[in-house]
Amino acid sequence: MTVGHRHNGRMARVLVGVSGGIAAYKACELVRLFVKAGHEPIPLVTPVAERFVAARTFAALARRPLNEDPYPHLERADLLVVAPCTANTLAKLARGLADNVLTEAALAHPGPILVAPAMSPRMWSHPAVHENARLLAEQGADLIGPDEGETAEGELGVGRMAEPEEIFARAQQLLARAHELDGVRVLVTAGGTREPLDAVRFLGNRSSGRMGVAVAVEAARRGADVTLLAANLAVPVPPGMETVATPTADDLAREALARAGSADLVVMAAAVADYRPAEVRTDKRPKDTSNWTVELEPTTDVLAALGELPANGRVLVGFAAETGEDGIARAREKLERKRANLLVFNDVSREDVGFDAPDNEVVLITRTEERRIGKAPKREVAAAILDEAHRLLREANGRPGE
Ligand code: CTP
Repeated sequence: MTVGHRHNGRMARVLVGVSGGIAAYKACELVRLFVKAGHEPIPLVTPVAERFVAARTFAALARRPLNEDPYPHLERADLLVVAPCTANTLAKLARGLADNVLTEAALAHPGPILVAPAMSPRMWSHPAVHENARLLAEQGADLIGPDEGETAEGELGVGRMAEPEEIFARAQQLLARAHELDGVRVLVTAGGTREPLDAVRFLGNRSSGRMGVAVAVEAARRGADVTLLAANLAVPVPPGMETVATPTADDLAREALARAGSADLVVMAAAVADYRPAEVRTDKRPKDTSNWTVELEPTTDVLAALGELPANGRVLVGFAAETGEDGIARAREKLERKRANLLVFNDVSREDVGFDAPDNEVVLITRTEERRIGKAPKREVAAAILDEAHRLLREANGRPGE
């Protein structure tokens, strides 16, 4: 395992996708910034974008031969930037259409994707566009802008593409992170287990799996080898990782314990049932007028069981879904009791964050620190969790200052 491998400002191959809008002219400046920083930009200009700026302009700025075949570069690039991204291209990216070199690149490219939407304010405020942006973000793409101001067509509102300098700065940030977890094996559990009562009924919980999936996606974006143990996800299974279905607490315990030995980082984001029906009927219980009494028996506490294993430099992250004032104190107690290295405290009494919500607000609790992460989309919370986990990994492997 190489923890802490950095990009170190080395030359990166950056695919610069340009789709058809007036803001295409600003992509020229972006290409120039990449060249100036010593990177290797490869322009991918859609046929409609060519109506605004000729492909030869981009080729000249990128110092590439005209009519170069971009396909050999698609799978070996460090970053794909789509700037400007029109409403049409945004929809294609979100749904996986591949009808030109840019959209094909988006499917073939395994690394980070940065998208800078640009469109009229009326288009940007359309629910279909918002849904596409949300879908794309959920799949792991980073969105930047659009900004408020006057669009090139003279309309006021939100829709103008972010400035090239800003896009470039974010790209540099993504490049710096892209290899941070190279060679690190990460095991993530996500979702909520369902414990069968009979052939059709189960006891479950409200976890959607969004938080765990966001952690898995972010880890993969940073170069980790990710295995996702998925318990009844309400969100799509993300690409780029091994996924194993673990619908019950028993399945999840078995798979997690079998795989933990070969993981450097384990993130237990799943809401695992604490109890399951002691007896499961194989048929569907017919309805009658009497009460149905169900006896519940405890399940394995997976996090605690993992904490019992020899650590060997492995970092263990748990979640604490708590309600009420003394939640943090209980979470800290849980950290100690389950021998985790990091506990993500979640106040589940709030409706606007946490369970089955797109945002989260958490406190990261380690043996020595407490760090509050303000309300943010789950992918930003995932990034903060991985920053902390990465620091703990370096510490556990004797490279604290790296
Ligand atoms: N967890 C687990 N196995 C279980 C139950 C929970 O691995 N059978 C993990 C969860 O994935 C989570 C952490 O333990 O990372 C905390 O879950 P929570 O339900 O808050 O903890 P409990 O131990 O059930 O807490 P309490 O004793 O307060 O009910």
